[in-house]
Order: sequence, then C-alpha cells, then structure tokens
Amino acid sequence: MSGIAEIGPGIYSLGARHPELRIFDELFPTHNGTTYNAYLVRGSEKVALIDTVKGMFTEQYLERLSSLVPLEQIDLVVVNHTEPDHSGALGKLLEANPEITVCCSRSAANFLQQLYSVPMKTRVVAEGEEIDLGGKTLRFILAPYLHWPDTIFTYLPEAKILFPCDAFGAHFCGDGLFDDEVADFSAEFEHYFDAIMRPFKDKIREAVAKVEGLEIELLCPSHGPLLRRDPKAAIARYKELAAPVEDTGCKRALLLTLSPHGNTRKMAAAVREGLEARGIEVVEKAIAVACQDELRDEIERSDALVVGVPTINRDAPPPVWATLSLVSTVTPRGRLGAVFGSYGWSGEAVNLIEERLKGLKYTLAAAPLHYRFAPTDEDIQACRELGEQVAAALLEAK
Ligand code: FEO
Repeated sequence: MSGIAEIGPGIYSLGARHPELRIFDELFPTHNGTTYNAYLVRGSEKVALIDTVKGMFTEQYLERLSSLVPLEQIDLVVVNHTEPDHSGALGKLLEANPEITVCCSRSAANFLQQLYSVPMKTRVVAEGEEIDLGGKTLRFILAPYLHWPDTIFTYLPEAKILFPCDAFGAHFCGDGLFDDEVADFSAEFEHYFDAIMRPFKDKIREAVAKVEGLEIELLCPSHGPLLRRDPKAAIARYKELAAPVEDTGCKRALLLTLSPHGNTRKMAAAVREGLEARGIEVVEKAIAVACQDELRDEIERSDALVVGVPTINRDAPPPVWATLSLVSTVTPRGRLGAVFGSYGWSGEAVNLIEERLKGLKYTLAAAPLHYRFAPTDEDIQACRELGEQVAAALLEAK
C-alpha cells in the first residue's frame, strides 16, 4: 500500500502527508505543508508503534497499519509526546485493541487522561529504560520541553535510528520521504526551530548532550523528511542554535519606544541617560521601524525591558502588545522592567503595559511615569531618575 516505506529491517514509516496545510496549529505558516510521521517496529517477539498521526488522518493510518500487521498483534505504542498531531489516532487504535500498552513519560500519562476519555494501559518509562521487542530494543531518553513537558525520544540501537519526536523536524512535505530525495528545506528547518523550539534553549542543550554521542544513521523526527544524509549535522545545528546568549560582562537594557509626536521619545532619552550614567548598556529600538526578528533577539539578550508607550484610544497601540508577545518565544537573560509614556487625555497605557510585564514575570524596578503631552523639565528629571533606579536594580541583581 502506498504511504508505507520500510526504512530499516522490520521498521516502517506509515505517517500522513499534509501538503496543502498552510498554517500549522492555526499559528505557524507552513508554505510547503507538513507531515505527521509515525512508525512501526517489528521485533521477533513484540510489535511496537512509535506515535500515531493527527486525528483527521486516523482512518488512513489504521488502514496502513492493518496492511502491515493485524491490530490485535500490536503490543505497545510509544507516545513520544501527546500533542494531538501525533496522538490523534490513539483513541481509535485503542478502541480496536484495548490491550495495547501506551509507553510514555509521566507527564504524558497525565496529559493523555485529560486529552482522551478512552481507557488505556500506560507504562511510564524512565531515562534509559529499555523494552526488548526481540532482536530490537527501544531505549527511552527523557527530553522534557522539546517542546512540551512530556517529550521523550526513542532510540533503536540495533538499527542506529533515533526517533526524536518534534526535535530536528521541519514543516515540509516534499516529494520523497528522505532528506536526500526532496528539495532544500533548510529554511523550514531553521524556521521550525525558531517558532517551536527556541523558547527552550536550556532544555535543548540538555537533550543534545544526551544524544550527540549516540551512533545515529537515521534521524526520524515527527515532521518533515527523515534525515539520513548527515543526521549528526541536524543535532550539531540545534547545539549551535541553542547556545547560551553571549555574556558581554555588561548589564544590558532594552529600551522600546513608540512615540507618535515625539514626547514619549523625549522621556526615553532621559531614561537612557539615567541608565547609561550607571554603566548600563542600552539598546534602543523604535517599535514602529524595528523588525520582529531584531526585537526578539534583543529581548532575549536583555537583562531589563524598559517600555515607553503612549496611550491611543484608552489603550497601548497594537504594535506594543505585539512586541511584548515576543517575550514568551524566548528566554530573556533577565526580567527587570519599567514603563513610562506621554498621553493626551486619559493615559491608561502605562498601567496596562505594567500589568502585562508583571504577567510576563517581570519585576518592576521603578514606579511607572506618565505625563500629559510634552514632559516638563521636572518630568524629564524624573525620567532620568527612573533610568537610574532601573540601573541600580540591575546592578544589584545577580
Ligand atoms: Fe508536532 Fe508538538 O507536536
């Protein structure tokens, strides 16, 4: 049956292709679609599955599976991660064979109870635990937060295959199954890291350390082509991308401003003076002209985030909200914050943004400042002092 490929002796790929998908999870653009990779491993004693597929492909998946093995002969399914794009067919699979054991992390076992009402026999696996299928071994590697808390990798040492869940994947549905059979998808590989994995750089470093010494001839991620040309290169690239932010030895504040009439920016200049007077390195970005990637990089590198925001129609302007939504896509070096801004007749934005920073786990290092229209000399002095207060808090912080 088409859609099934033997990728090693007794090891099959039977996942789903979704070439027409244009936005994954209603969040991430996927210009070349994606795939939901799933596998079957047949040992002399047991038959194991590694992940299933997105729910909409359940029927196709079960047909493919049934053509390889009667469903009642399946012994276990490894759930590397519970997100429904990989566990969506689990319910129907277990309805067909309730005796299948679901092997997963402790977090995944909890998540599965909340995702699916079907009764299931679960086996929580530990770091390094192995299951002997008869001539083939499944060895589990815990990889929490790549990119959910429940993630595990599964290694098959006899075939030198690593099934690393979402890690090292790409949203790319090419003409072939393997990386050497499809067009260049390096941009999708990089974008996938940036969109999905980047917030968890420290966890990526831990996971990479666990697998970089393994013998790997084939890397079988949950999305995109299977990597056989140079699987170690993908792991090495994750190591590079997840490297800690360079420590310049100097505390760094990111000063973000949006200033329709220049008043908030005048305040920013004084805040900057206050910060720099205490030796803080200041990177100032005008939200209206900075690109999103640049803002993300600077948020990640900063020890403090100082936001100058005007009030427009009783709110902060949408680009300010959009910029702050980038915080959760990275791990900033530090989380001290402060807010200031000019307003015309109401002035809600400063307090709204202060609450937003608190919600993002920032500690406010100074009381917020907001002034009507043009700041006076006295106001400017207060802005300078706000900068000095943030600087003092930064210098005290470890
Ligand atoms: Fe592809 Fe996190 O699921």
